[in-house]
Amino acid sequence: MNIRMSRRRRIYEGKAKVLFEGPEPGTLVQYFKDDATAGNGAKHGTITGKGVLNNRISEYLMTKLGEIGVPTHFMRRLNMREQLIRKVEIIPIEVVVRNIVAGSLAKRLGIPEGTVLPRSIVEFYYKRDDLNDPMVSDEHITAFGWASPHEIDEIMSLSLRVNDYLSGLFLGIGLRLVDFKLEFGRLWENDELHIVLADEISPDNCRLWDIRTNEKMDKDRFRQDLGRVEEAYQEVAKRLGIMPETANAPDNSEKL
Ligand code: TMP
Repeated sequence: MNIRMSRRRRIYEGKAKVLFEGPEPGTLVQYFKDDATAGNGAKHGTITGKGVLNNRISEYLMTKLGEIGVPTHFMRRLNMREQLIRKVEIIPIEVVVRNIVAGSLAKRLGIPEGTVLPRSIVEFYYKRDDLNDPMVSDEHITAFGWASPHEIDEIMSLSLRVNDYLSGLFLGIGLRLVDFKLEFGRLWENDELHIVLADEISPDNCRLWDIRTNEKMDKDRFRQDLGRVEEAYQEVAKRLGIMPETANAPDNSEKL
């Protein structure tokens, strides 16, 4: 990270991103790292250029979702690795939407990976690394006050809209959207509290399989040591038509 970046006040550092205080009140700067982890931090690594690509991919997808009326925290991309976002109160729930059986669902229920689900499934996980993000139901979420029944309804309906839209978008570029994880936040706007899409949408938190070859084009290449991880992220960006010229640049943070 360059000197300019480290001078800003660091609010939070996660596994793949850092949040800094933004230039105006109510804003944050989201910095995308090349670090990758799997198995809740059990496996660590670096995927060269991942931060640059995820910054771009997430910008593209959040912008598209904004255009169809899905409220998001995204404001604008600042440079190769940073984007300006609205500061929201993160709801401590990870929302996973699944269209095809893979990952933990295949393992937990013994259903073969690749089985097409009769309908999309939405799952909730409590965001607690120290507990390995346990799966919870809406009963737990409301009983413990993590979100209200109304907020859960909103989160469900937004998640399914995101799924419908992104499934079509990826299908158009020859990729099957197998599953993905979303996070939501609360935002006060005009004296009203809104639920908005937060975090990022990228091959870090989506499973994407090539329609023709079934090749995995996402973080499973890292999780399962399949090799050609950077290339897979680059290919997703290329198919979206947003491949940056210098994805491998270690840090090109420009002035705000
Ligand atoms: P899973 O099959 O491991 O439960 O993952 C489902 C989807 O959610 C997959 O696209 C990866 C994503 N995911 C995250 O982004 N973060 C996480 O901590 C987990 C467990 C999954």
